[in-house]
Amino acid sequence: MVRATALDQKRLDKEQVAAKLLDASAKHSFDPVHEVDWEQPQPSDLFYATPEHISLYGTPLWERMTPEQRIELSKQEIVNIMSMGIWFETILMRMLLKMAYERHRPESRHVQYAYTEVADECRHSLMFIRMIETVGARPYGRPGYLNTLGRYVPVLLQGAPMWVGTLMGEEIVDVMQREMIRDERVQPLVRQVSKIHVIEETRHVKYAREALARRIPRAGRLEREHARLVAAESAVVVSEFMVNPAVYRRVGITDPAAARHLAKRNEHHIEVKRRAAAKVVPFFEELGLMGGPAMKRWRLSGFVA
Ligand SMILES: [Fe+2]
Ligand SMILES: [Fe+2]
Repeated sequence: MVRATALDQKRLDKEQVAAKLLDASAKHSFDPVHEVDWEQPQPSDLFYATPEHISLYGTPLWERMTPEQRIELSKQEIVNIMSMGIWFETILMRMLLKMAYERHRPESRHVQYAYTEVADECRHSLMFIRMIETVGARPYGRPGYLNTLGRYVPVLLQGAPMWVGTLMGEEIVDVMQREMIRDERVQPLVRQVSKIHVIEETRHVKYAREALARRIPRAGRLEREHARLVAAESAVVVSEFMVNPAVYRRVGITDPAAARHLAKRNEHHIEVKRRAAAKVVPFFEELGLMGGPAMKRWRLSGFVA
């Protein structure tokens, strides 16, 4: 029943969508090297992320921290998210380039927009790296299994599963960044970077959502099942990234494993995750991509109740 709405909705033609996105890209694209004020002061009393977004916010461990430690934790957590962003965007660029390569139709607006999005993501990753350096931190690595998996993702994910994975990567961070832009407790530098990212990501989300909605009615059972699974597994990957023990180690927490355990069960953290997923999950629901055995994984991720 619910499923019918997104599918029945009159969808713009693929080329029309891409043409609009190309037009918007021509009007509102940013060059972070010149458009972010990298020299601006970083006031010592401001957080590097919205405090409520911090995985340990509100826990007894958080309550025992000094204001300086809390700010350092916020810095390390945003650096961790940006490190995840670089990993994700690099995979996405490879998927888009692979798609462009295989379509053989560079004259199509759809392929031209794919190239445009690659250019955006390329600038984003450079912006994240620069921000990590500017706040005086080092990027975080990823677990070995994800490193290996990421190598094969562009081959493993095509069609609906590709778009589903893309949306999970983009929409969760997008909601959190939107909240940060408005948060005056957050460093102006972080807010500036977030704003650029949010503006450009709006187009990426539109591109992926439209592509997924067009694809689902044509997808066979196997592709749908694959997409369901990829959505749930991506949710687990993102949620695992959000409680990185290396972050806790860097801020000097003596038992990082215990901190991670605490963060995973932290009701404030769970609430932030539910809010972050509140746009993408109903969209997946409309397309019939929620439900079945994958729900176990979704619940494990904490993004849905
Ligand atoms: Fe991006
Ligand atoms: Fe993106």
